[in-house]
Amino acid sequence: MKIALGLNIDHIATLRQARRIHQPDPLEAVFIAKNAQVQQITIHLREDRRHIHDDDVRRILTHSPLPVNVECACDLSAGGVVEMLCDLGVHKVTLVPEKREEITTEGGLNMHAPQVDSAIVRFREAGIPVAVFIEPDRESIVRAQELGVSGVELHTGAFAHCYDMLHSCLPYSHNARGSMRDFAPKSAQTRADLARELKDRLAREINALECAASYAHTLGLLVFAGHGLNYENIAPIVKLPHLQELNIGHSIIARALMVGLYQAIKDMQEAIANAL
Ligand code: PXP
Repeated sequence: MKIALGLNIDHIATLRQARRIHQPDPLEAVFIAKNAQVQQITIHLREDRRHIHDDDVRRILTHSPLPVNVECACDLSAGGVVEMLCDLGVHKVTLVPEKREEITTEGGLNMHAPQVDSAIVRFREAGIPVAVFIEPDRESIVRAQELGVSGVELHTGAFAHCYDMLHSCLPYSHNARGSMRDFAPKSAQTRADLARELKDRLAREINALECAASYAHTLGLLVFAGHGLNYENIAPIVKLPHLQELNIGHSIIARALMVGLYQAIKDMQEAIANAL
């Protein structure tokens, strides 16, 4: 099965916001992505508007030749994000949890929170397909199906956290959900002990993602994945059963600074193709 690549362009807006001017423009990236045969653009309209702004969403939706997937929190307030995206008629929405203090989305959605149910109903009424960003566990998948979403995006942050710690000298990464904070090296732990523990944990994270992908497919849900994926750790994720779409941002935009966006996308497409 061909896996669609969704390019997350939030970090282009992050760079722009470092100066609060109008460059670089995330919309320009959309056209480069189209030329490089990306299948989808992904943007996250955060409550604090730290990178993508309302006007970016409007301009990208108006001009994008690619489908646009907007990640957002279940903000049901009057004039809030859910209302705005319904009015704009976005192509697709991925509901994510949001915390002001986090550097990036740290964990999957709590699928039992009442606002998740309400946001899904609201988007479905507006005819907008909804996916939910969840931890790879059965309970979240069952609930996703009950609530009538079209797909689940499996959070690969815990996997990425283990992978990056095992293959680099990083003492800690921000890719993982809250519980992974306890999984930083202890001071008395030798590198060999830590590597053994990380390998074990990595195998469990991959297994959880594989089981979740199969189970979601069995329940009739589309299977997507994303978070913390890069040129080195992509191979086991590409092999997940029934995987239809990957959403990748940080690693591609970071590489784009060195080789240009077109080439960075091509390099990721090659890494995905080589792993299949
Ligand atoms: N998918 C979702 C739901 C996300 O929230 C993010 C981060 O915004 C990504 C994918 C992309 O993650 P990364 O930037 O680590 O590739």
